[in-house]
Amino acid sequence: MSGKDKLRKFKENKTFTSLYQPLFDEVFEKNHRLKGKWNTDVFKNNNPIILELGCGKGEYTIALSQKFPDKNFVGIDIKGARLWKGAKFAHENNLTNVAFIRTRIDFITSLFDENEISEIWITFADPQLKCDRKRLTGTMFLNRYKTFLNPNGIIHLKTDSRFLHEYTLELAKQNSLKIIEANNDIYGSNRADDILSIKTFYELQFLKQGLAITYLAFCPNSATALKEPVWEKEKYSR
Ligand SMILES: C[S@@+](CC[C@H](N)C(=O)[O-])C[C@H]1O[C@@H](n2cnc3c(N)ncnc32)[C@H](O)[C@@H]1O
Repeated sequence: MSGKDKLRKFKENKTFTSLYQPLFDEVFEKNHRLKGKWNTDVFKNNNPIILELGCGKGEYTIALSQKFPDKNFVGIDIKGARLWKGAKFAHENNLTNVAFIRTRIDFITSLFDENEISEIWITFADPQLKCDRKRLTGTMFLNRYKTFLNPNGIIHLKTDSRFLHEYTLELAKQNSLKIIEANNDIYGSNRADDILSIKTFYELQFLKQGLAITYLAFCPNSATALKEPVWEKEKYSR
């Protein structure tokens, strides 16, 4: 994508009413004005809210919002040119149960309040092989998600990365979290139903490379702070 193309998308992004682009000062060590108010002030209903983290172009957010009109969906990513695609689609199709936020997920506790969110999808996140603190399923992030997820809230992880899948599974096991499902090849095992077969931009690239796509669903609720797992990470190179 050329620089000119990016600038055009950034400009158009400002016209999309469902795309929120908080300034650093609005989320850094400060509660955003919409924290706790996404349903009352944005969606104007009391439906469950589901997040997609690192949503890129927002394929899951858009597809799920169309399948489940009685739920609200919020896609979050830092890359404005990627978000443009989902936000434009939501705008042109008048999707009233969709919002996108351009921000670093690092600021997520400034955006959502206790019990405000019922599920989280993490789709094809960078596994961050070397840095636990940057991994979207690492304990630092999970402990933050716990502050706003319902007690029975679910995290769905779909990935091509064996490292990310096994790491998150070990973390869930070693912290005695409720594991709802763990599948290490959703297409090979015919598990990909109409929800798991929604394909993202990155997923299509990984499928072309012949990589197996995995799925993990678990509930991160626990009385104590989560601990990093002790596991054989050297076994996995991706
Ligand atoms: C590998 S891409 C996957 C995008 C999309 N889910 C897909 O499957 O096509 C990972 C995305 O996560 C976003 N991301 C990673 N870490 C982030 C963070 N801390 N805050 C916001 N976005 C982040 C990146 O900008 C990128 O768009």
